[in-house]
This record gives sequence, C-alpha cells and structure tokens, in this order.
Amino acid sequence: MGKREEIEVHLSINGEEHIVKKEDLDRSLTAFIREVALLTGTKVVCDEGGCGACTVTVKTAPDAAPIAVNSCLVPIYSCHGWQVTTIEGLGSTSEGLNKVQAAIAAGNATQCGFCTPGFIMSAASLFEGSEREVSMSEVETALAGNLCRCTGYRPILEAFKPFCADASEECKARVSDIEDLCPRKKFCGKRPEKCEEIKVPLTYNVALEESGGFFAKVQTCKEVTEMLKKNPDCSLVAGSTAHGIFHELLGKAKKFIDIRDLPELRSTLFNGKKVVLGAALTITETQNFIRSLSDKPGFKYLKFIDTHINWIANLQTRNVGTIGGNIALKYLIDSSFASDLFVIFAGANAQMEIINKDGKTVNLQMTDESVQRNFQKIALIKSFSLPSLPDKDIIYQTFRVSNRTLNASAYVAAAFLLELKGDVIVRLESVQDGACFKSNPDLQNSLTVALLNIQGKKLAEVLANIDSLIGTDCSQLPLNLIKKFLLSFTDKAPLNVQYELSRGVQEFETDASVWPLNQPVIKIEALQQCAGESMFVNDMPAMTGELHAAPILISGKPGSRFDLDALVTDVEKEFKSSGVVAVITYKNVPGINSFIPLDYHSSMVEEEEIFFSGETKVDGQMMGLVVAKTRAKALAAAAKVHSRLTYWMYRCEVRKPTLTIDEAMKKGGRNVIVGPAKGRAENDKLLQGIHKSISGKMEIGNQFHFSLEQQSCVCVPEEGGMKVYSATQWPDMVQCSVSRALKVPANTVQVKVKRIGGGFGGKITRATHVAVACAVAANALKRPVRLVLDLKDNMRLLGGRAALKTEFKVDVDKEGKILNLDSAIYQNCGHSVNDSPLLYKTVKFYFDVGYDSSRFRVSPFECLTDTPSTTWCRAPGSTEGVVFIEEVFEHVAAELGLDPWQVRMANLSENDRKDSPLPQMVLDLKEKSNFEQRKKEIEEFNNQNKYMKKGIALFPLKYPFLLWGNYHATVSVYHVDGSVSITHGGVEMGQGINTKVAQACASALGISLDKIKVEAVSTLTAPNDSVTAASIGSDTCSLAVTRACAEINKRLEPARKALSADATWLQVIQKAYETNVNLCYNYMFSPTDETIAYDIYLAAVAEVHLDVLTGQKKVARVDVLEDVGRSLSPLVDVGQIEGAFVMGLGYWLCEGYVFDKENYGRLISVGTGDYKIPGTKDIPEDFRVYFRKNAPNHQGVLQTKASGEPAVTVSVVVLYALRNAIAAVWKDHGITNKHVKIDLPATPQNIINAISGRGQDQN
Ligand SMILES: Cc1cc2nc3c(=O)[nH]c(=O)nc-3n(C[C@H](O)[C@H](O)[C@H](O)COP(=O)(O)OP(=O)(O)OC[C@H]3O[C@@H](n4cnc5c(N)ncnc54)[C@H](O)[C@@H]3O)c2cc1C
Ligand code: FES
Ligand code: FES
Repeated sequence: MGKREEIEVHLSINGEEHIVKKEDLDRSLTAFIREVALLTGTKVVCDEGGCGACTVTVKTAPDAAPIAVNSCLVPIYSCHGWQVTTIEGLGSTSEGLNKVQAAIAAGNATQCGFCTPGFIMSAASLFEGSEREVSMSEVETALAGNLCRCTGYRPILEAFKPFCADASEECKARVSDIEDLCPRKKFCGKRPEKCEEIKVPLTYNVALEESGGFFAKVQTCKEVTEMLKKNPDCSLVAGSTAHGIFHELLGKAKKFIDIRDLPELRSTLFNGKKVVLGAALTITETQNFIRSLSDKPGFKYLKFIDTHINWIANLQTRNVGTIGGNIALKYLIDSSFASDLFVIFAGANAQMEIINKDGKTVNLQMTDESVQRNFQKIALIKSFSLPSLPDKDIIYQTFRVSNRTLNASAYVAAAFLLELKGDVIVRLESVQDGACFKSNPDLQNSLTVALLNIQGKKLAEVLANIDSLIGTDCSQLPLNLIKKFLLSFTDKAPLNVQYELSRGVQEFETDASVWPLNQPVIKIEALQQCAGESMFVNDMPAMTGELHAAPILISGKPGSRFDLDALVTDVEKEFKSSGVVAVITYKNVPGINSFIPLDYHSSMVEEEEIFFSGETKVDGQMMGLVVAKTRAKALAAAAKVHSRLTYWMYRCEVRKPTLTIDEAMKKGGRNVIVGPAKGRAENDKLLQGIHKSISGKMEIGNQFHFSLEQQSCVCVPEEGGMKVYSATQWPDMVQCSVSRALKVPANTVQVKVKRIGGGFGGKITRATHVAVACAVAANALKRPVRLVLDLKDNMRLLGGRAALKTEFKVDVDKEGKILNLDSAIYQNCGHSVNDSPLLYKTVKFYFDVGYDSSRFRVSPFECLTDTPSTTWCRAPGSTEGVVFIEEVFEHVAAELGLDPWQVRMANLSENDRKDSPLPQMVLDLKEKSNFEQRKKEIEEFNNQNKYMKKGIALFPLKYPFLLWGNYHATVSVYHVDGSVSITHGGVEMGQGINTKVAQACASALGISLDKIKVEAVSTLTAPNDSVTAASIGSDTCSLAVTRACAEINKRLEPARKALSADATWLQVIQKAYETNVNLCYNYMFSPTDETIAYDIYLAAVAEVHLDVLTGQKKVARVDVLEDVGRSLSPLVDVGQIEGAFVMGLGYWLCEGYVFDKENYGRLISVGTGDYKIPGTKDIPEDFRVYFRKNAPNHQGVLQTKASGEPAVTVSVVVLYALRNAIAAVWKDHGITNKHVKIDLPATPQNIINAISGRGQDQN
C-alpha cells in the first residue's frame, strides 16, 4: 500500500472523542453510536436509508456545514475526523431540551416516540446547517426522508413552523411557548472544543482486519488507477449510500478506495457554455450549484433539474450520495436501478469524463450504449458536463411519477428535449426510466415509435391531433408524459398536482371545571421522547454474556424439506470463527413447538410452529435462529445460510404455491372453509318492486403494520426461570406461550413491557412468536439472548392485515333502498386460520353499522393460501365490513345517479332513523367544510379542465364499540413526598394510555399530573390481563385506576378527618402513613362488573385532486368530525384521529403486498424500498379535525369515547373522492352513472388503468 499512513479512526460524538477499536470497524455509524458509545436515542429501523430513524447531524470536517445523514448507511471506518451529534447531544431532560426537541413536545407531535429522534435530528441539522433562515416548505421537504406510522405527520410539520422565515407572526409567537420548555435556546448540539485537533492526513489507510481488507483515502485520480491495477478486487466508495438499496450486489467488497474528498472530483466550473460537475459532488451540493446558475442564459433549463433533484431519495441520502456514485450504479446494475440523475443528465445531452483503467481520460455521451457494456474497463467517472441549451429553440423538461410523493424511487422518470425550427419539431428526444419499464419491456419501443411519429411535424398540427398521434389508450404512463410535455406548449397546459404546505385545524371544547380530565395536556412522556431518553426493548443495556439472534427464514416452495441436523452442524462449524455460537431449531424446544396456546382465546384455532419441524408451509417460515456474539454477525451468518439453503434441501415433492383468494377457491378442498351464512334465510322470498339489480365486487389487499420498532425481545434466564422483555401488546399470552414451550410453570416466566414503538395489532400474536423463539434460545444456551428482527425479515415472517374480497348482487328500488342483498365475503387467511375470526368481525360490521340489514344475506369463506398467516391490523374487520357494505351503497348510488348520502339515508334502520346523531353531524360537517359550495365549484372546475380533475366525497360512519377483557391497575402512593406510581395492564404504544390513565388518577386523587409516574406493565402486577388492542386499553385501564384511587381515597378518609380541611396532599399521606394505612391498591376491571358498550359516530369529507395523465393525486383537504364523548385527553385524541386517518389513507392509496408468483410465492414488497407507507407529502394538505360538541358519553368511562380506530375506517372517504374525480374524466368521454372500477391500492398505474376502464371491479 505504499507509504500511505496507517491510522486509527477517531471521531467525536456529542463532543466526546472516540477511537474505534479494530473489532468495531465492521459496524455502521448507527451501530457504533448505539452499541459502543451507548447512546440509544438514535434508532434503527430499516438499515437501508429509507426511514430516517437513524438520522444524526454530521460535520465531516471542522469547516464543513452540518448535514443530516442516515447513520445506518455510514460505515464507521469512513468517519475519521467527523463530528457527530446525536439526539443526546442536543439536550436532555436533566440539562434542558434544545429548541427543536421542545418544539416537538410542545406541539404534541409524538405518539410512540420511536421516530421522534430522527425527525428532530433532521430538522436540527437543517436549521443549524442553513446559512440563511429556512422556509416552511424547505422544512417539509427536508423531513420527507423520515417516516412515522403513528402521528400522521401534521403535528410534526406544524411544530417546526415557528422557526421559519415565512411563518406568520401568530405562528412565530409560539416560540415563547416552546422556550418555556427549553432553557437552551440554540439549534445546534454539543460540539468538541478541540475537535480540530483530530489529525486527518490527506491520504491514509485503515486496515479492516476482520475481513482482511482495507479502506484507503486517496488524493489523486492517478493513485486510484494505480491502486486498482494492484488490487483489481477493490471497490470505489464515495457516499457509500448505494448499499442501502442494493445490499447483496455491493455488500461483498472488502477493499475500498474512498474518493469522496478527491479534489479532482470535487471541482465545479461554469464558463457560460457549459457547467462541469465533479463526480464526487454530493447530490445536495450539485443541486445548490445548479440552482445558482439557473437564471443564466442557456441554462434556464437547470430549474427543472433543481426541482427534479428534490424527488431523488431523501435529503439525508442526497447529503452524502454523490452524482458519480449514482450514475456508476446505473451502469453497474442497469435495469434494477431507476436513476433519476441519469434521466435528467442524459436527457439534457450531458457528457461524462471518465478515466479508463489504463489511466486515459475520455469524454463520452451518457447515452452511448457502449458505456454500459464496457463499464468494467472504466476506473472512475471524473465529471459531468451539462451543455448550454438555447432558451428559445430548445425546450427541456422533466417529469416524475412515483408511488409516494417524495422518498420513493421512480415509477417513471422522464426528461424531454424538443427542438423547434420555426414551428416544426425537428428533434424530440426523451430519456425515461423507472419500474414501469421493468414490468412492461415493450414500453421503450412504444415510446420510441411515438417520438418518431411526432418528429418533423408542425407543433400546431401535433397539438391538434395529439390523441390520434400518441393513442387514446391512456394506461401507458410514458406515452402520457409525451402528451403532458407537448400540451405544456398550449395555453391550456395541463395543471400539475402541486402539494403546497400542509396545514390543519383542531377544534374541540374543553371544560376547565373538570381538569385534569378533559384537559389538553402534552403527553407525560413527551419530554423524554424528544430527548431520546425513552427506552424501548432494544435500548436495554447489554447484559453480561448477552448473545444476539437472527432468524433463518426458509426459501422454498410449500412442501420443501431440509436436513436440519446437517445444517446445524455445518453452520456451527463454518461460522464459529465468525462469532456464531449456536443454531437453534425446534429440537431445542423442551415443551410444545408452538407459539399459539390452543383454547387460550377464540381466535387461536390451531398450533403454529415456533420453528419449522418437517415440511415447509410457506416461504419465509422461521427455520431456526443463528445465535452469535453481535447482531451484525448473527444477521450476516443468517443471510449466508439463507442464500445457500438449497444445499441442505432434500429431494422432495413441492407444491406450486397458492397465493390468492381466487386460486384457493378454485382449488377448494382444505383451502376453503365455508362459514355459516348470516342474515336472511336462503329460501326467504325476495321482495318485489325491484327498480334495478346490480352486481359488483371489491377486492382489498394486505396491509403491513409498519410500526417503526420492529419485533423485539430480550430474554434473561434467571434462577430457573425466564425474564422476558418483549415488545408485545399481550404480555399474558407471551407468559403463557413461553411457559408451554419451555415446559415450566407460568410463575417462573415474568414478562415486562415498558412501552412499544407502535403496535397496530402486529404485536399481538405475532410478537409472541418472536418472544418464544428468543426464550427457547436463551433457555438452550443459558445466556441472555436478544432477538430484534430486521425490517425485511419482519415483513416476510409475520403477516399483516388480510386481503379480502366481496361479491354481491343487490336489488334496489328507485330511491336505492335495498330490497335483497346477496353477498359473499372471502378472506385470504394465509397459511393458518389463527386470528381469522377477523372474517366474522367483518361480517358483524357489515350488518351492524346502522342500516336496515333485514334483507341482507352474507356467506363467508376463509381461504387458506401459502402466504404468511395474516393477523389483526388497526380497526380489523370493522374497516373491511364497513367498506364492503358501503361499497354496495356507493355502487347503487353511481348506477342510479343518486347522491350516496341519499342512498344511505334510504337504508337507515328504524332505530338509527330515530336516534342517530349522524344526520345532524352530517349537516354540521357540511357546513364546516362548506361542502355544497365546494361541490359546485369542483363541478365547474371539472367542466373546464380536461387533464386535471377534482373529486369531493362525504362519508358518515356509525362504529359500534364494546369494552371487554380483564385489566389491572395498581396505584402506590409514597409517604416521602406524596408522589404516585401506577402500573396497569395496558401497553403504551403511542396511543397515550399512560397520559390518560395519569389524568384519571390525578383527577381521582385530586393531585397534579407531575406527581404521577406510570411504570412498565408486568405479569406480576397485571396477571391474566387481556390484550391491549381494539382501542379498549385506555378506557379500561383508566376505569381500573379510578376505582383503585377511590379505594385509596376511602383509606385516606380518617387521615383527612384528623387534619384540618386545608391540609395538603403530602400532609394527608404522611398522616396515613404514620397510622399504617396501606397506600397501595390493585383493582381489576372486568366485563363481569359491568358491560360498557356504545356507538362512536364520525363523518368525514375529503377532496382529492387528480392529474389525469400521470395518475398522481393529492388529498387536498380532509375534514373529520368525530364523536369522542367528553374526551379524556383532547390532544391525545386528536393525535389518534389524525394518525389513524393517515394509516387508512396509506391502505387505500399506496400500500400493498406483491408476491413473486414464479419464485416460491415469496413476498417481495418488503423493506422501505418496495413497501410505501404515506410520507410527509401524502397527508391531507389541509387537515381539519373537529370533536362533536357537547356530547358526553354517559355509557362510557369518565364520559369519554375511544378514538384509536374508527378514523382508519372513515378514511375510505379519500377513495370515494378519488373515484368521483375519475368519474369526472369518464363524464368527458360520455360515460355517466357508472361505478368507477379501480384496483387497490390506488397507485398512479392503477388510477390510469381505472381511467381507461381497466379496473378490477368489472362485471
Ligand atoms: C433510500 C435510498 C433511496 C434512493 N432513491 C433514489 C432515487 O429515487 N433516485 C435515484 O436516482 N437514486 C436513488 N438512490 C440512489 C442514490 O442516489 C445513490 O445511492 C447515490 O447517489 C450513490 O452515491 P454514493 O456516492 O453513495 O455511491 P457509493 O455507494 O459510494 O457507490 C456506488 C457505486 O458506484 C461506484 N462509484 C462511486 N463513485 C464512482 C465514480 N466517481 N466513478 C466510478 N464509480 C463510482 C462505487 O464503486 C459503487 O459501486 C437512493 C438511495 C437510497 C439509499
Ligand atoms: S434505519 Fe437508517 S434510514 Fe432507516
Ligand atoms: S410516533 Fe412516529 S412512529 Fe410512532
């Protein structure tokens, strides 16, 4: 390696210097921060740069600007000389929060808090790193790289606005509220005072001893070519972000040449004729430079490139990812990577300067086909040069369509270049790339033909005949983009669906006379969450001797068998030197190899294996665990085993996987369980007076929970028993299943849950699987074991919300009143029927949401398929049941040309006609949302616009609700200072249960909230408790706590009487203590005490804007009016409604499973790259939430109603609004009174399919 200096890697974290030990050099920056620096505020979710949970602020050199980076993508060996700030470096609850942290707390912008540090670090980096004040829009764009599943983003985006230059004075005034929470007024974090003293030589070498490789920093291109000659197996690294999206392809290299700071690759030039950009410029630096030139003659087109860059990846990735790295990746892996930079540079006829391996410098056209073929001969890309394009004659534009507005790869990215001579189009070129070309290879040809067809024609002629020239089938996006581009030259240019700033209204009343009940308080954990101090399972400090486990997931068709003994022996032997300690399989299970305790709950119908024991049921099944000394080693070994599984596969008969409801129904037999039909008897006479008979169907897909905290568990064998720290919604089930699997009494298994980072039903039975597997490993090895699933494993192993389908035939009269309804509901249960009583809940809601169901008949079918067993997911069954019956009304309304509300009113049950508050709520909401007026305006807009349509819809909902289950609460009062501890049976997962319970306790005891602390759930103090799910936890635990407090109050009576009336709380407690009063009480709520059932009413209005040519849409405005009774905690309830609505919005508009039909039936839509939950720019742009006024719930707990789930269900209003927008397109084609057929989720491609009449729902 010549004379390059060998160095140790030094970096500072929050001002403290760290020297990276040799054995830690294989870690990412996130792993180093969490596992070596022991700062667990920085979270890890995806490890692929897609979620932002691991965001930290970085200064790569003392004089560099601070930037936000995804620390999971940064190898620690590349951090020499870096100054890193983590959430802990900004501020703490003991020393005071930083402004940005306090803004989130004050803005009620946390729920589970798992994503919170990442958001704060993104915003803090932006505020600190900008030389000028930032705008509100910049903040929203900067936060697009961070995902949150709980809050619906609105409060997070709102929280930072007071710091922005363009905020209103009223908004800026909020800074003083924020400052009340933070004595530290700065944006920046702790910086080392003497950091400059970390010596960073110009060139150096870091030996990576574990892998036998090295990381070399070089200074010249010549050094690079020479090194490559000597070490042909070397890989260049610049920003090192590519492995986030292409793990397998790029993860094998061991020797790295770091070209990030190579001066020859970092230069920029502008000479009036061209712009030259060094290949090692980051994408952000490139954007800034380009922006500064975009007013220059010949370079105005750079404005499009500037805008387009905002759509690439996310700010954290753009801050370190280089333009050279991006383009190199395109040439290296071509079809798997849709490179936006390639499209926008090549589309502008950019040239590339490269250095060949023989050291020669060559200039090439980027689109030159030989580059791709010969890329292996290229040593390095040096620079790109963008030409001047005469502003008058040459027109350049770019477009992009993706499944999420920002932070999503392109479904199609396009750049167009058009040259006019006079009015003749002499040149029309387009470079396009994206996923749509992968699924349809003929598209490139169609594109080329269409472009050639236009070239040489007069622009006016083209515009007059655009449909016939390009074709009227609007289902091909690349062709639609040609139209969109050309139409931009007309005075009727198609409008773009532009997402403006998000905003919102939260309107509720609060009765100060009952505070702290009904008081809008910030969450009791908010400050800790914002300081990164909230502890989740994987934040527990490592224990002595602790080991890490990673699952081996089966790759194989149903029926595959494996030689497990050989696998265990081979892996333990081969990977021993890589830190692997053991492979755990079903043979290590002393008791029953199942995590489902039969007869424990009605939803648990059959055993489900912890570890595979014979024949593969489904690809992705858990075969066993690799247990190793570190998580990275366990994951690496599991990945290698996984890739070689066929080596241990027996020759055996395998089955083609059955994946869908239709396939299962076709197969019949054991694949279909026919449930009992509900409703009108089959032979009951059909009613006469039928005006119309209508048939329809609707299919809704799967939804993954996507809680940011992945399934996690730490098990500690202790004195013959097992302490289980599990991220579960159901500690009792974990206790029960672990004791069965380990064959030990339940009292030797203690389960503790402090909080979980989102649950949404995914951590009910499925968390038990993970906990039991972990306990088996800990028991077998007699050492603490930590099992934290990787996001992709989590998605492959554990099912989500089930896919369902309904088919119906309905007879109606002229008003749309249902005379007869026959329907079938099918559920794809996955490989097991466990958790599928969901189907019966679906049917129950179909009948029970306020309509006259006397003429309904429904036949349910459970379909078993070779896919992961599905499970509960927020508002399970209720959402599907409601949406299926509402689909009938929507369909009828469309076919009869009636308002859907009229049809619903015609079908209201007698009771609801008399008692329901919904009609009044609908009137109130219509008024608040100015519905009728907007509807008219939208109609006018649609009449005048062909390529952009708007849709508005209103949807009312009655949501029946019942409290059930056993829930304990223990209240302990301490004589020392009168402070109070509570532990209850409900798991805090972001829904605010602890805040509500504390408010109930403070009210019952007459003390202030700050005297109360809520402790972890434990099976010791909350034995036999039910699951925290179905929105019941907060109510039941608040009631249990209120009753426990009532008993304590009773016990305090004598002390109160003995003291004067003005005695303080502390005096009363101390007096009681002196007289040996028991100041601890445990109460259990149970439905045998009383039945609490009530209905929750909601109404929602949504307005959606649709780009007809691209299928892109925005949810422009949503108004939700919800009846929450007298809310126990209004800010918590607002958060629940907003978060639930946005989760539902994802379900309808962008989330869905994709199975690989050819390859084992594997779920391929895994990870942040292939599964898109809504991001910051997908939420309603204008989001208004109102509580129904003056409506205390006298049947409920403390007059409140539950708020966690119904808003998921009501979110279907966005689908109705979207359909109305599509119906407006159909109307232009003369099609009216037809139900709009659309496949779900409503992605851009599915939308343009629907527009062209290719949707699912065709009969
Ligand atoms: C979450 C995520 C989302 C993304 N979304 C998008 C997107 O929507 N659109 C898009 O276009 N891109 C997207 N990307 C890709 C991103 O832009 C690239 O990861 C990035 O630009 C690569 O740059 P890098 O400097 O990190 O490359 P590295 O990771 O350092 O290197 C990548 C490859 O390029 C080679 N290389 C690097 N520099 C050179 C050079 N100068 N000469 C020759 N070879 C070189 C390396 O040897 C390596 O093989 C996304 C990435 C992530 C992680
Ligand atoms: S964990 Fe780093 S971006 Fe998701
Ligand atoms: S609060 Fe954002 S993921 Fe839970």
